[in-house]
Amino acid sequence: MDSLQFPESFAWGAATAAYQIEGGWDTDGKGRNIWDTFTHQGGDRVFKNQTGDVACGSYTLWEEDLKCIKQLGLTHYRFSLSWSRLLPDGTTGFINQKGVDYYNKLIDALLTMNVTPLVTLYHFDMPQAIEDQGGWTSEKTVEVFEKYAHFCYSTFGDRVKLWITINEPYVFSKLSYEQGLLAPGKGEPGVGAYQSGHNMLKAHAKAWHTYNTFFKEKQKGLVSIALDSDWAEPLDPNSVDDKEACERYLTFRLHWFAKPIFIDGDYPAVMKSEISRKSKAEGLTTSRLPEFTDDEKSMIKGTADFFCLNYYTTRKVIPLKQRGPSYDSDMGAEGIKDPEWPESGVEWLAVVPWGLRKLLAYIKDTFGDPNIYITENGFAQSDPPILQDTHRWGYFQETLVEVLKAINQDGVKVKGYFAWSLLDNFEWNSGYSIRFGLFHVDFNQPNLPRTPYFSAIQYAKVVKGNELISK
Ligand code: GAL
Repeated sequence: MDSLQFPESFAWGAATAAYQIEGGWDTDGKGRNIWDTFTHQGGDRVFKNQTGDVACGSYTLWEEDLKCIKQLGLTHYRFSLSWSRLLPDGTTGFINQKGVDYYNKLIDALLTMNVTPLVTLYHFDMPQAIEDQGGWTSEKTVEVFEKYAHFCYSTFGDRVKLWITINEPYVFSKLSYEQGLLAPGKGEPGVGAYQSGHNMLKAHAKAWHTYNTFFKEKQKGLVSIALDSDWAEPLDPNSVDDKEACERYLTFRLHWFAKPIFIDGDYPAVMKSEISRKSKAEGLTTSRLPEFTDDEKSMIKGTADFFCLNYYTTRKVIPLKQRGPSYDSDMGAEGIKDPEWPESGVEWLAVVPWGLRKLLAYIKDTFGDPNIYITENGFAQSDPPILQDTHRWGYFQETLVEVLKAINQDGVKVKGYFAWSLLDNFEWNSGYSIRFGLFHVDFNQPNLPRTPYFSAIQYAKVVKGNELISK
């Protein structure tokens, strides 16, 4: 048996998001958000028209969550604030004190347990009132978000030292405003995702500057954004077309947000040229990809104090020839799964642990060797799940081996790992049919009991020893 030690003070965490666990959707003055609206509209856009009205009940059962965190021995816990629980109409015009009290209790209790909170300001749950004004497709949201961020820093920043402004701008922009799959379900192919991404980049940058200018000196915290990406390789490594398609795949996915923030404040050249060329051919006078002014570029550049990476899977890439304006035809690339890769619980999640190592090394080389936290990684079970999920623990173990190789052999500065997720929860369009939890939640019982999977018991051992015992 090899003993595989992680670096000293490695952050061991698990992650959740407000809408996916809290429930209490209209309790104690919480305002509506886009997921409340979307799920209540029915129409089978979510598995069996399920909703997050109750979810894991964490709004009332948060102490049960703390027991799970304690059982795992985590050093860190990543959760998100429900914007409309704090500010029911999204603006600071009215503050819902009960919402503030809720997060204060949670943060204080975590600190008492010596668990460091990593807090996400926005995890897919836009207040409905802001969505009604255009949500992320409207420029006005940039300022509203900045004020929300300011409010959160001033309310919780005496105790919260690690912040994520926005979770996965790619996933949200593409799945919500391009494809219309996620709330608010308003897809405008080839247009909506770019507008949303543009405003998210500006909102993130402003929120970073707000912290830097008004809070950093006193609070001494760090602010970043959580970017998700697949790892990608050309299907045929000898094909020039596949290689170029693969580069475009990573560019449109990862560089779209990482290049402006970590390198130079602007979009990748290939995105600018491809989208502008296609827009012209469609008879448009301006590109469907908005442009940043020079001032905006300097405002965006350098606005992350560390790199937050959400990694789930890998794709083999081939060129895509598709007509009509859309993100996919702009990218001109298609990612496919290798049939050899095992699948975990859900069709898109091919298990490729080595992809994470490659992606980490790529980020190190491409984006200035930042400190990296893996802020989400995990494996699902379909329903009904088994408690003795040895296969799933195997995937976690293989992944952690790759993380260690990235640290020890490739010199990547990986500072922490957060399993997605602490609990089985409301998995967006899949409702409760996909289970990502380290803890099983019995959604059929009113008290929503949490029970550790085998993976949780094993993860606790890794956390405790700060090492992985490999075969
Ligand atoms: C991420 C998202 C999480 C979770 C996870 C698993 O994209 O941030 O909220 O749902 O995927 O699908």
